[in-house]
Amino acid sequence: MTQYKISPSILSADFARLGEEVRAVDEAGADYIHVDVMDNHFVPNLTIGPLVAAAIKPHTQKPLDVHLMIAPVDAIIPEFAKAGANIITVHPEATIHLDRTIQLIHSLGCKAGVSLNPGTPLDVLDYVLENLDLVLVMSVNPGFGGQSFIDYTLRKIEAIRKRIDAIGKPIELEVDGGVKVDNIRRVADAGADVFVAGSAIYNTSDYKATIAAFRKALAG
Ligand code: DX5
Ligand code: ZN
Repeated sequence: MTQYKISPSILSADFARLGEEVRAVDEAGADYIHVDVMDNHFVPNLTIGPLVAAAIKPHTQKPLDVHLMIAPVDAIIPEFAKAGANIITVHPEATIHLDRTIQLIHSLGCKAGVSLNPGTPLDVLDYVLENLDLVLVMSVNPGFGGQSFIDYTLRKIEAIRKRIDAIGKPIELEVDGGVKVDNIRRVADAGADVFVAGSAIYNTSDYKATIAAFRKALAG
């Protein structure tokens, strides 16, 4: 049976109370803490850096699932590893040498992920997939929380699920953007096993009830 994971994105948290907000989703049943790092260059928004990642680290025992939307990305990767990142995910467009970037992440003792934007074709995975711990499918164009799920990405999730199963390694398939209680089942049916949710969790008053509703939808 698939072990589903929920990774709340702190992008929609109250940044003035970030430590508390991280602890709250941890206690509400999060499996990972999703940290969206944006540089106002690769994506049109600016969020947090390694200092803030290090500041939230003591507030949770859950793995920090760090999604780097930064270009060029390599120079900052060691800083996030030092800050306590457990998973580091990069976009292929943000590095000239994707294989080298994946090796760098592993050499720092972190799990490595590659993220595909909605319009990014699958062939970037051809030679690197078996070296990855995670593939992150963007189901919105990255930059902001609270956008609507792009339906054609379900086909992409299905295609990547087939490739992962063909390799037979425990590579996680994470989906990020517009995941809600009413569509998570469809996303899981397409083959995802890790679900990022920002606004769907942080814009509700009872995080525990929302995460429980996700799990109920996944069980149904
Ligand atoms: C988008 C980010 C997502 C975003 C998800 O660029 O990578 O992690 O915060 O937010 P929701 O769940 O609100 O779509
Ligand atoms: Zn993200």
